[in-house]
Amino acid sequence: MSLQVTDLRVYYRTLAGDVKALDGVTFGIADGEIMGLAGESGCGKSTLGNSLIRMEGRMRHVGGTVTLDGVPLPIDDQADMNHFRFAEVSIIPQYAMSALNPTRKIGKMVGELVATRGVRYHDIREELERRLELVGLARDVLDRYPIELSGGMKQRMVMVLSTLLDPSLLIADEITSALDVSSQRAVAQTLVEFRDRGFVKSMIVVTHDVSILYQISNTLAIMYAGKLAEKAPTDVIMSRPKHPYTRLLISSLPEIGVRFEEQRLTGIPGTPPSLLNPPTGCRFRERCPIAIARCTDEEPPFVEVEPNHSVACWMAS
Ligand SMILES: Nc1ncnc2c1ncn2[C@@H]1O[C@H](COP(=O)(O)OP(=O)(O)O)[C@@H](O)[C@H]1O
Ligand code: SF4
Ligand SMILES: [Mg+2]
Repeated sequence: MSLQVTDLRVYYRTLAGDVKALDGVTFGIADGEIMGLAGESGCGKSTLGNSLIRMEGRMRHVGGTVTLDGVPLPIDDQADMNHFRFAEVSIIPQYAMSALNPTRKIGKMVGELVATRGVRYHDIREELERRLELVGLARDVLDRYPIELSGGMKQRMVMVLSTLLDPSLLIADEITSALDVSSQRAVAQTLVEFRDRGFVKSMIVVTHDVSILYQISNTLAIMYAGKLAEKAPTDVIMSRPKHPYTRLLISSLPEIGVRFEEQRLTGIPGTPPSLLNPPTGCRFRERCPIAIARCTDEEPPFVEVEPNHSVACWMAS
């Protein structure tokens, strides 16, 4: 098991109270696994990704544990996390393309970044150039400023950069959202290739676009209102989803064979509950077409109903 997350709780402290953005999340990722993480905007996908690498501002680790390759990750200690960040766990953040420092030439920036992990630029230069070539970037990008690169080029640059030290886990957060369709597909394929070549061992690919995940992920985790609703191998979740929310998500996708990327989710009636004061019982109950009385009183646990298939729903087993 590459990553094991157990009962993770991360809240945002706000004037109105705690926003319970991650409220008891448990899952594992096997070596070589690309896990897609999907769910509506605001359900906690970025909070999950970010909390595994850097807690910022108002984020507060309220409970739960994370281990990477059997080693506990000190996720609430930002100084201790420095040992792991970039070298063991790396992220391509949601707005990566604007994160490149505009005042530094790219090569210089790469040098400074690897130096923070005790690696000399000189020693990784050859490998860096090999990887740039792999993603179709000429080595002279290293002598250029970020502003001289197109959006797609910057995205590929960030992908190479974030995996340069061969981290165990890579988190990719909505990295295809701002791209055109053909760049989206190229970026998604590059992630798979990075895994196949061993640049990263396992991955969490966050997106609200399930069609991308269908192409590249081995497993899919569906999040709803700060919790996991379901996790299973991608083909299982696409063909035999057990959670009513997953079913609605899947059924709002176009049929297989139709060009996925040209269509978006049609949406599910209703809105998710507030994470300031989430309701008792199942958080999906107000939108659930098959809710029963028990769903109001008792929260359904996230349990394995078949090997490698976990669901949080009273009606699933
Ligand atoms: N800095 C913040 N302060 C307070 N609440 C936040 C902050 N960032 C995110 N949230 C809240 O946490 C929840 C999860 O957000 P996020 O993880 O960004 O969701 P997603 O990535 O799935 O769209 C949302 O309700 C959002 O409003
Ligand atoms: S636990 Fe109840 S409300 Fe929640 S998804 Fe299952 S049936 Fe619907
Ligand atoms: Mg997000």
